[in-house]
Amino acid sequence: MTTQALAERDYFTDPSVLLDPYRYFEEMRPRGPVCQLQTHDCLLVTGFEECLEVLRNPTDFSSLNSLASSAFPLPFKPEGTDISAQLEAHRDRYVGGNLVVTYDDARHNNVRFLVSRVFTPSRLKANEAFMRDYADQIVRRVVADGKCDLVGHIATPYVTMVIANLLGVPADDRVLFEEQIARGQTVGSIENPDSPTDTSALEFMAGFFVRYLQDRAANPGSDLLSEFVTATYPDGAKPDLVELVSLAVFMFAAGQDTSAKLLGNSMRYIVDVPGLQQQLRDDRQLIPWMIEEVLRLEGSSKATHRVARRDTTIGGVKVPAGKAVIVALAAGNRDPRRWGDDANEFRLKRPGIREHIAFGRGVHTCAGAPLARAEVATILNRFFDHTRDIAISEAMHGKRGARRYQFEPSFIIRGLENLHLELTPA
Ligand code: HEM
Repeated sequence: MTTQALAERDYFTDPSVLLDPYRYFEEMRPRGPVCQLQTHDCLLVTGFEECLEVLRNPTDFSSLNSLASSAFPLPFKPEGTDISAQLEAHRDRYVGGNLVVTYDDARHNNVRFLVSRVFTPSRLKANEAFMRDYADQIVRRVVADGKCDLVGHIATPYVTMVIANLLGVPADDRVLFEEQIARGQTVGSIENPDSPTDTSALEFMAGFFVRYLQDRAANPGSDLLSEFVTATYPDGAKPDLVELVSLAVFMFAAGQDTSAKLLGNSMRYIVDVPGLQQQLRDDRQLIPWMIEEVLRLEGSSKATHRVARRDTTIGGVKVPAGKAVIVALAAGNRDPRRWGDDANEFRLKRPGIREHIAFGRGVHTCAGAPLARAEVATILNRFFDHTRDIAISEAMHGKRGARRYQFEPSFIIRGLENLHLELTPA
């Protein structure tokens, strides 16, 4: 394909970009770390430093379009060099405008403060035994069958159960939510670029969360929802119920696809990188290193989005207020200027690996990163405990070097729709 033809490919809808976004980013890289897309009125940022520059500059860049995406045109005519007030006035036109990931300024600081008070390392530690025991139970079951679809049989039910347990969602409702999320459109759907993110599952769950929070106010327990109802903003004010519901629902949903896909992506590398499975079996301390390198090479969020609210610059390139920006985390994570000539290769214990931007950076850095890392490590450890060998099903995915995979049809999420494994018991 010529460079010209490539540039005309639509990042948001083209199936070949979905299949191999890394090739698309590599071919866009020579146009500069910050370049204008020909298909949409937005900038594509592929440089590591330039991605950081945007993520660390919430003064000039609003997160309002982080879910609506850069494909969503400004719903008003920008006036002047600072459109912050205009953006706020149109917040309800943006999908997810009532979710923490799209908030700016004081509203964001306030809600993020709640998260940091409630979602603490000690809280995660207290949940470790549950995570381990539940992982043990479901992994034993699939190993007894000798095979599984890692994404459908393990990853998705596991991450749902873990966050539900942490928050305190009653057991009967968990399956209902999982089904509702599965029925909804994927986040950043390439099939529906005009309305790529559907929040109907969140709205469905919101009604339930109102009741849970009201119940915890009357009968506090030891779960996160109980802590939400007593938590306050930094100035001591109490958040209203609507804000708490939207935060709790988002926390429930934010880690569903992303963590589940990270497990699938990790397993692919474990089985396909020659010798890696044995290396990890021999030294389990290497598992966290492997997870970080997979996050860098194939993190489950390919990109996030910002809109410039003031006239500004990225990497010296002028950016007018109102311009949408694709912050291509997956491209920054393979930028050879940061990661060297072997940026596209898997390398265990890569120096500086924790600096990758798979979880974003700055004020909106993923609040669930420690949980996601713990979930993946826990499941992988159980697989290594209970199996002697794990193989990718050749019948379903073809031979190594010529695999066939189906990817989530999303311009935000990077991950497999299914991963069929063959398991040899220990
Ligand atoms: C591998 C798994 C995950 C990945 C790759 C991931 C990725 C991200 C990224 C890139 C952002 C920043 C978005 C931006 O700057 O616009 C983010 C934000 C967020 N994530 Fe995650 N995430 C993962 C798992 C989770 C989990 C398990 C939770 C749940 C508890 C979670 C909760 C959140 C929240 C609450 C935010 C919003 C933070 C804010 O706006 O201040 N994430 N995530």
